[in-house]
Amino acid sequence: MDKIIIEGGNTRLQGEVTIEGAKNAVLPLLAATILPVEGKTVLKNVPILSDVFTMNHVVRGLNIAVDFDEALNQVTVDATGAILDTAPYEYVSQMRASIVVLGPILARNGHAKVSMPGGCTIGSRPIDLHLKGLEAMGASIHQEGGDISATAEKLKGAHFYMDFPSVGATQNLMMAATLAEGTTVLENAAREPEIVDLANLLNKMGARVSGAGTETLTIRGVAELHGAEHNVVQDRIEAGTFMVAAAMTSGNVLIKDAVWEHNRPLISKLREMGVDVREEEAGIRVKSDVSKLKPVTVKTLPHPGFPTDMQAQFTALMAVVKGESTMIETVFENRFQHLEEMRRMGLHSEILRDTAMIHGGQRLQGAQVMSTDLRASAALILTGLVAQGQTKVGQLSHLDRGYYQFHEKLAQLGADIRRESED
Ligand code: UD1
Repeated sequence: MDKIIIEGGNTRLQGEVTIEGAKNAVLPLLAATILPVEGKTVLKNVPILSDVFTMNHVVRGLNIAVDFDEALNQVTVDATGAILDTAPYEYVSQMRASIVVLGPILARNGHAKVSMPGGCTIGSRPIDLHLKGLEAMGASIHQEGGDISATAEKLKGAHFYMDFPSVGATQNLMMAATLAEGTTVLENAAREPEIVDLANLLNKMGARVSGAGTETLTIRGVAELHGAEHNVVQDRIEAGTFMVAAAMTSGNVLIKDAVWEHNRPLISKLREMGVDVREEEAGIRVKSDVSKLKPVTVKTLPHPGFPTDMQAQFTALMAVVKGESTMIETVFENRFQHLEEMRRMGLHSEILRDTAMIHGGQRLQGAQVMSTDLRASAALILTGLVAQGQTKVGQLSHLDRGYYQFHEKLAQLGADIRRESED
């Protein structure tokens, strides 16, 4: 079992860091590559992450040729032959996000069978909206033996109002609707940059999607789609993680190619705290002096609100800012487990339902801690940078799902950090 070991306490991150393509964009983009019956799809700027390997396996399991050229960060998919309609349990069970293959397989084949995604440590994460939306488009859905089976000889365009702007449901329904008969309107749709990225790829494939990035998506169905070439959007959560890392270590870091617009909710909270965040030609620069920062209140919300995927990292920053900060998590109901681990490092916090009070500015000390989920792993490593002495972070399979060379990038910025195998 690997561990990341950090000698912390005196770290001031300085320099430049590069950001990968977004994990949360590339997973649905890979699901979209199932749709074209003609030509290959080439995705560029693909991050080398375990979740990407898992999604590649899911797509390959449908009898589709998937080639990942890691040296070029490029995935080429050829889905032109006959494809299977069952997504293999072996891989679907490893990653909840693989449910987004349901819509594309159904739209293309008239039938799809996908395992129910398993439990998840950050909350219950139902998929009712995915299924209700497909039903609205005429699919009949059955659940049997842990699988979801959806059938519709031809999906029909529909009006569907989502009572929560679910990212995954928006993606699933948008992809399904591209091949439906007639027009589909999704109201209260998710507006994340990853939704816009998916719509852009679908339109390059010949789909007719408009309104991506707003709360109403309109999809006019077409007879078939063809392959296309696409650059995956930059990872705003990886960028945000380095912005927070720079802020909490009194650092001065240029996050190259980070997209200002995508990080607006985070930037506004960092500025409210007193962090100097500037847009430069090459990216976003973050400069800070922790001793001068002020506590803030943050509430996670669907985009363009503060992202839940930055919540854990931001609580690590709150921990070093003197005074009482408040974090309200409204998207997932069980996403404060990192605070329990951070308590082992001396964090003073109280949690009441969806609200965590962080008593920042107390002395933090290195400790042995476990990652509880993907973003928690980053939060614990960042806390290790500022805690006195040695911190060892375990359960790195979570980290590898979403961060490429995380400790190498931090080391380049001056952190005393290494990864060791303890087998
Ligand atoms: C995606 C992201 C994840 C991020 C989340 C919220 C990917 C691969 N993952 O996850 O990193 O944390 O968006 O920004 O892009 N819900 C329902 N019914 C549904 C679907 C969702 O009640 O049918 C609820 C969930 O339980 C959760 C909330 O909606 O409380 C948000 O979920 P959703 O937006 O669907 O997140 P994901 O697509 O799973």
